[in-house]
Amino acid sequence: MGINVQGEAEPILKVRDLRKHFRKGSATVYAVDGVSFDLRPGETIGLVGESGSGKSTIGRTLVRLLQPTAGSIIFDGTDIAGFSQRQCKPLRRDLQFVFQNPWGALNPRMRVSRLIEEPLRLAGVSTAQADAAALADKVQLNAQVLSRYPHELSGGQLQRVCIARAIASRPKVVVLDEPTSSLDLSVRAGVLELLATLQRETNAAFIFISHDLDTVRLISNRIMVLYLGRVVEEGRVEDVFRNPAHPYTQALLSSHLPVMTRAQGQHRRIRLVGEIPSPLRQQTGCSFAGRCPVAMPACTTPIPPMYPLSGPGHQAACIRVPDGTNDIRPTADAAA
Ligand SMILES: Nc1ncnc2c1ncn2[C@@H]1O[C@H](COP(=O)(O)OP(=O)(O)O)[C@@H](O)[C@H]1O
Ligand SMILES: [Mg+2]
Repeated sequence: MGINVQGEAEPILKVRDLRKHFRKGSATVYAVDGVSFDLRPGETIGLVGESGSGKSTIGRTLVRLLQPTAGSIIFDGTDIAGFSQRQCKPLRRDLQFVFQNPWGALNPRMRVSRLIEEPLRLAGVSTAQADAAALADKVQLNAQVLSRYPHELSGGQLQRVCIARAIASRPKVVVLDEPTSSLDLSVRAGVLELLATLQRETNAAFIFISHDLDTVRLISNRIMVLYLGRVVEEGRVEDVFRNPAHPYTQALLSSHLPVMTRAQGQHRRIRLVGEIPSPLRQQTGCSFAGRCPVAMPACTTPIPPMYPLSGPGHQAACIRVPDGTNDIRPTADAAA
């Protein structure tokens, strides 16, 4: 992996103006509509946003489970956006996906040992190297589990099987789509810790999708906040959580503050009015304008560009950022 002048590793993934539109009868769903970012080896980008904002569609398009409508996905120097199914096949080793629901992701008629070895064998790695026991050990699964079938395992164990399958080929990029949402709270932390350990060992880059902000905050280096198929804010986790700049990010964070702050009673929730606009209409301006308490006529067209903020790489797509009138959080006085 090349190192650039700033001493940062070159991105393993460069995504530019990615779009994914679905046909729905005679209508078009603008699920992802112009998303750009870089992902570096060893880095985790958290993708947050309400249900329907396009998180899964981005994830699936990146690993080419879906064909993008437009834009480029430059993986390790090659644009794979236009690759055919056949051209995509060798990419499987390097681009992996972990689904939210491990029950649906595993063949119920295969034993765990076979489930773990299968992706490696499909990738052409000899059975000698496809050492299921070593992989099980890596994901902290007891060796006894290897001879069992999926229905004999707990949700946490099943997700570890899925993670073992995903990392078996030493992928360079792993998209994790809500990997802990279906798990009991008690086993979530263990799975997150495992992912962090595996990442340190392999230097894989992760895209971590979740609507749970606490989880994203724990595991990500950077986050991207999605609203209706577009990124409205991005930056280092600490910058976005401490100084959310887009009114939507402020509202999203205010509804999800950590339990501690809530208990201390310092927490003031921003109540949004209105509905998320239909993804069936292509937006011509800020898609949040209809719900934003500080929207102005200029917000409705054109689509706002990203404005830089003080943290490195921190930017938000709100035209109020330059003059500092973007804060919709109630002040202590106003709420008293
Ligand atoms: N295969 C599909 N056909 C039509 N519409 C789809 C399809 N997949 C997703 N969508 C639509 O795209 C939008 C984004 O969905 P999705 O990426 O699943 O969002 P998220 O993961 O953030 O909940 C939604 O409006 C959803 O209904
Ligand atoms: Mg989803």
